[in-house]
Order: sequence, then structure tokens, then C-alpha cells
Amino acid sequence: MNLETITTREIIILLIPWPLMFIFIRMIINRISSKYYPPLPPGPYPWPIIGNIFQIGRKNTHVHLCKMSELYGPLISLRIGQRVLVVASSSAAASEILRTHDDVLSGRDVSRLLQDKKPTVHNMNLVFTSECDDNWRFLRNIYKTELLSGKALESNATMREEKVIEMVKYLASKEGEDIVIKDVMFVTAMNILGNASLSIDLVDYEGNGIGSGVMDAVRRLVMMIAQPQLPDMFPILGPWDLQDWYKQVMHIIEHDLGSVWEDSIQKKRSRGDFGSSSKDFVDILIEKGFSNQQINALMEELFAAGTETTSLTIEWFVAELLKNKAAMQKVRDEVMKQISGNVVKESDLVRLPYLEACFKETLRLHPAGPLLIPRKAIETCEVMGYTIPKDIQILVNVWAINRDPKIWDDPLKFKPERFIGSNVSYKGNDFGYLPFGSGRRMCPGETMASKLILLTVASLIFNFDWYIPGNINPMEINMDEEMDIAMYKKEPLHVIFKINNGHFKN
Ligand code: HEM
Repeated sequence: MNLETITTREIIILLIPWPLMFIFIRMIINRISSKYYPPLPPGPYPWPIIGNIFQIGRKNTHVHLCKMSELYGPLISLRIGQRVLVVASSSAAASEILRTHDDVLSGRDVSRLLQDKKPTVHNMNLVFTSECDDNWRFLRNIYKTELLSGKALESNATMREEKVIEMVKYLASKEGEDIVIKDVMFVTAMNILGNASLSIDLVDYEGNGIGSGVMDAVRRLVMMIAQPQLPDMFPILGPWDLQDWYKQVMHIIEHDLGSVWEDSIQKKRSRGDFGSSSKDFVDILIEKGFSNQQINALMEELFAAGTETTSLTIEWFVAELLKNKAAMQKVRDEVMKQISGNVVKESDLVRLPYLEACFKETLRLHPAGPLLIPRKAIETCEVMGYTIPKDIQILVNVWAINRDPKIWDDPLKFKPERFIGSNVSYKGNDFGYLPFGSGRRMCPGETMASKLILLTVASLIFNFDWYIPGNINPMEINMDEEMDIAMYKKEPLHVIFKINNGHFKN
């Protein structure tokens, strides 16, 4: 063809098919890809730009999400700014996420600010490690073998018993006074972790000691971590810390918490006598060549994950027993019958099945992490006929599952008997009951937490009668919840303890 002879008309005729062709090819590609990628799970219609932020609510998100799942189904998707969030709210959906697809859905959704700025915690402890890679396995293995294994826990049993006796003595010295139970339990949990990791008490029951600010710092840290970050919701904003979030989080981690154990770690390092037989967790970390920054990241995680969860669970446990007189009487009879010495020991716990049933029932109704800790999809995958795209955030609403009437008879009632003679456990194999999560990311502290909580509550029952200040009817205890990542009792529980056996009377 002679190009010089082509007319405008011929050019138009030649060009017209190309856009049509392009549209046609796109339609075919879309058709093919929709064949391979089913849609996102259903969910409420998102508002432009902000998505479903306001529908989720800032407080008690677990309740809002539960209501949405009743409308849209067990697997729903929402938009938080520009990011997609998927929420599982049935045991079948939880099993798909935490078991079937655990390999690709077990990332942690670490804020972009923590990933992009200087590496202070990202990939240095479990909860801030994005993927279950070799580094995460190495850290988890250290926790498991050196601190949380059956053997490691056994070697610390006497220490935990001593710390609980100190708590009982303190409460005996305050007989008849108004006690905020969670504060006392926090000190006990903190000193148990302080002794397991550094061989020291961090604080006494009057609030004196190097760890006096830990409770407040942990609360602030959990609240900050729970806050949605603008750069995560709107990646277009880049890595700018517009809310001063990163600065505040780092101040808590490096200053408020880091300064608590800095001197103790330094003293251990300069002493350098790790040959002794009774090594604590930090001795082992130093021996293995961990830097102070790495140790701080692990200690921060240990105290953030292990103190508030245990103390708030004990608070719910005591509140439920106070409210449920029949259960209280039954558990009291069991404890009084089975404990023969002056104190409760961990070895006694196997003879207290009703106490354990009450503990399981407390965790069912009041899981410390009602939405677990947010996960992230490492790869795109298909769950229950829907697409879960790479990099999206995933929540599992265990609060909703633990109260699902299809699984639990009379689900809102405190009925410990449901666990007697039942095989349902909190070990992560029953997807209708997941207070410690399941799969690769399941709580590694579950055995330590259950030992500590059962020993503490058994000791409170063995030594004291419990009353509510102001002669309030226990049925009127306010059980309202408040949740950020952790779910605590909105109104702190106050209790008056009266000695019932005199073992620890001053
Ligand atoms: C009643 C007490 C506790 C409850 C209810 C609890 C619950 C949980 C839950 C639900 C998760 C998230 C699991 C998931 O995403 O599938 C978790 C993670 C974790 N817990 Fe616990 N926990 C408790 C006590 C403890 C204690 C005492 C420790 C340490 C001594 C601990 C250390 C951790 C750590 C390090 C993680 C992060 C694991 C990871 O991301 O790989 N927890 N816990």
C-alpha cells in the first residue's frame, strides 16, 4: 500500500476497530479473571474515601461486626479508607482462616510506620513480625523452649506459688478494705513475669518499684496499637507520621517500658556469669547474643501480652463467680475439699475440674482478645467461595463465635457445667471456642496464663470470702465491656476480702 495515497476516511476506518478491539479484549480478560478470582466477601456499602470507618465504630468493634455478620454472612468485607478488611464470624469461617489457609493468612498487619521507620521493633518480636518466616520461628522457639515450655514452666512453679502467696498476704493485710481487683492482679502478673525474665520484682502492692509505671504504659501502648493509622488506610499519604503516632509509640516502647529493665539488663551483661544453673530468660537471651534493643523488643511484648490479658481475665472471672452464687458455692466446696495444706499449689489444680470449667466459661464469655490480633494475607487466596486479596487485614470475631447460639446452648448464660465431661479445650483445635486463637499465631503463653489464673483464683477462694463494697446486690454488677485490642470490664470491679481460714492473718 502506498501510504501517501491514504485518505482521512481510510485512516478513520483503520483506527476505529482498535479501541473496540481493546474494549473487547478487556472484557475477555475480566471474564477470565472473574472466573479465577471470585468476588470479595459481601459487606455493607462503603462510603467514598472513608469506606466503612463509621459503621465499625471506635468502641466495641466486636459487637458492631457481629451485628454486620448477622446481615451479610459469616465472612464479610469492609473498607477502612482504601484498605480492605475481612472478618470471619463463624466456626467454619474461623477454621478456613486459622487452619485450612493458615499458611498464607498468618501474616501480622504491622503498621507501615513501624515497618518504614528505623527498625526498633519490626521483626524483632512475634507480634510485630510480618510473616511467619525463619526469624519468627527462631523467636517463637526461644519463647517456647526457654520460657513457656512445660519444663521451663515447671522450673518456675515455686516462684509463681510464692508470688501468689505474697498477693494473698497483701490482701489479708487489707482485710475489709475496698480493693480494685485488676490492679492487684496486674502486680502479681508483672512480678511473675519480672522474676521469670529478670529474677526481680518490678513493683510492690503499694505501687513502689522500678515497674510502677508499667501498667499505665502497657494500657497506653495497647490503645495506640489499636488506633487505625492514616498511612495504612490511605497509602497515598506516604510514610508521614501525621498523627504523631509513631513518635508516641516509640516513646512508650523505648522510654516508658525500656527504661524499666535497661539497668537490670546492663548489670546482667557486665556480670557475665551465665554459667550458673538458675538462668532466667534475659540471661539466656544475652548468652545467645541478643542486643539490648532486641531484648527490649521481646520484654515489651512479653509484658504487653502477658500482664493485662491475665489481670483482666481474673477480674471477669471473679465478677462472674460473684454474680453466679450456685457456681461460686460449687467451686468453693471443691477447693475446700481438695486443698489439704495451708496454701494452694499448682500441683493441686488437676483436682479442681469445676474451677477449670468456670475458667473456660469465663474465657468463652469474655475473651481477652475478642478479634484475636489482626492478621494479614501474605498471598491472595479463596475462602468459602470468596477472594481474600494479598495484603488485606483479617479479623476473626471469636467473641461472636463463643456466643453463637448454633454452637452454644443458652449462650449468654454463665454455665460452667457445659464444660464438665466435654472435650472442648482452649488449645486451638475447637473452632467454636478460640480464646487463645489457633494456628501458627496462636498465643504461646496459654499454658502459663492458665496456670497463673487458676492458681490465683483458687487461692482467693481458699483464703477469703468475697463481698462487694456498699452492699450492692452481686446481680447488679455492671458487666459492660470496653474494647480496643483487649476487652476489659468498663467499670473496674471492687471487692472486699474477709479472711476465711486464718493461714495468713498478720
Ligand atoms: C488470659 C490470658 C491470655 C489470653 C486470653 C491471650 C490471648 C491471645 C490471643 C487471642 C492471641 C492472638 C492469637 C492469634 O492471632 O491467633 C495472643 C497472642 C500472643 N500472646 Fe497471648 N494471651 C494471654 C496471655 C499471654 C501470656 C501470659 C503471654 C506471655 C507470657 C502471651 C503472649 C502472647 C504473644 C507473644 C502473642 C503473639 C503471638 C504471635 O503473633 O506469633 N499471652 N494471645
